[in-house]
Amino acid sequence: MYRVLLLLFLLGPALIGVVNSHHESGEWSCETESEIRVQAEFRPGLVTLDGRADDDWNDVEGFEFPLLPALDPDADHVYKAGKMTVKALHDGNDVFFLLQVDGDYLYSKGNSNKCASVALMFQIGEDATYHNMGGCKEGSQSCTSKTCKGHEVDIMHFSIGNAIPGRLYGGNAIDNRDGNGGDRFGHLVDVYGWNPHCRYLDGIGPSGNDTSAQNDWKGAWWHSSFTVHSGFVEEDNPYASGGQKGTYYFEFSRPLRTTDRLQQDVQFTIGGSSMMSAAFWYPVDGNPWQGSGHYTINCDWVPFDISLGSSILTKSAPKSSATSAFALLFSVVSLCLSVFMVYRVSKSKSEPYTPMENL
Ligand SMILES: *[C@@H]1O[C@H](CO)[C@@H](O)[C@H](O)[C@H]1NC(C)=O
Repeated sequence: MYRVLLLLFLLGPALIGVVNSHHESGEWSCETESEIRVQAEFRPGLVTLDGRADDDWNDVEGFEFPLLPALDPDADHVYKAGKMTVKALHDGNDVFFLLQVDGDYLYSKGNSNKCASVALMFQIGEDATYHNMGGCKEGSQSCTSKTCKGHEVDIMHFSIGNAIPGRLYGGNAIDNRDGNGGDRFGHLVDVYGWNPHCRYLDGIGPSGNDTSAQNDWKGAWWHSSFTVHSGFVEEDNPYASGGQKGTYYFEFSRPLRTTDRLQQDVQFTIGGSSMMSAAFWYPVDGNPWQGSGHYTINCDWVPFDISLGSSILTKSAPKSSATSAFALLFSVVSLCLSVFMVYRVSKSKSEPYTPMENL
């Protein structure tokens, strides 16, 4: 609890700083504070990927961000229902994310633009900027893996219009057999891009396809207004009555490393740092959202750290001091026992030696 308060205290000025950044007409400007970041601690066996965050994520630190329009991060147009909380952890193999946003429940089956939606974006290429999704200067006709080399970004986008809450979407055997980042069931897709006009499913490209690609993401969504917990099916939609106050939860996982050979997936390193962003689409006032009408957590990349597993050892310091106390007690007992044995042996010296055979 204290750590969360301390974090909020430290992050507070940073978040205000983010609000101040503003897209002046024409020229893009972004003032971001160096303190903001998202950290994934090593916490194996904590999270079940079911969209529900009410129990398993409780003692994981969250990082709060105001949601400003991505194309014009003006504080006047902040998403008013609340901030986005980003939580992350890893278990040594997979990295897990939770995106949590307050919002009245809205659902329109088959029409993702009338439902909430989220995306994660990561830097792959060294020259990939947050602004303009990689920032390659080429247009949609001329962007290729060669002309935009170094500007690659990795994107996971989840549009929930066909996704049943609590069910797992993303990489599946059928789409992965086709060798691309698609998800025909729930539209939780694995995408890469060089700029907003040059975005493709992993494996699909302007100058040809490569079927070695996969959708490496998995994820689920939930809303706190749901009362059924035994498992929804499609016929249950819209799953709850519309307009109810509550919180959306989006939960994701991906292997730290993937089999990507095309520079279309970010690769995470334990103890290393990457650059990320998170986006949110919402049908504000019931109006369907447009692709470019999204909110993001910052007007620049947010550093994303994958903590070393050893951080958990530092945490268990009180336990190890208890262990040393036990070790000390154990040595004292052993010492006493040896003194007693020496005494017994020296006392029994007078007793005659009995050969084994006579016993
Ligand atoms: C690549 O795959 C996409 C989607 O399946 C398809 O529309 C396109 O025609 C393919 N391109 C080539 C060059 O085969």
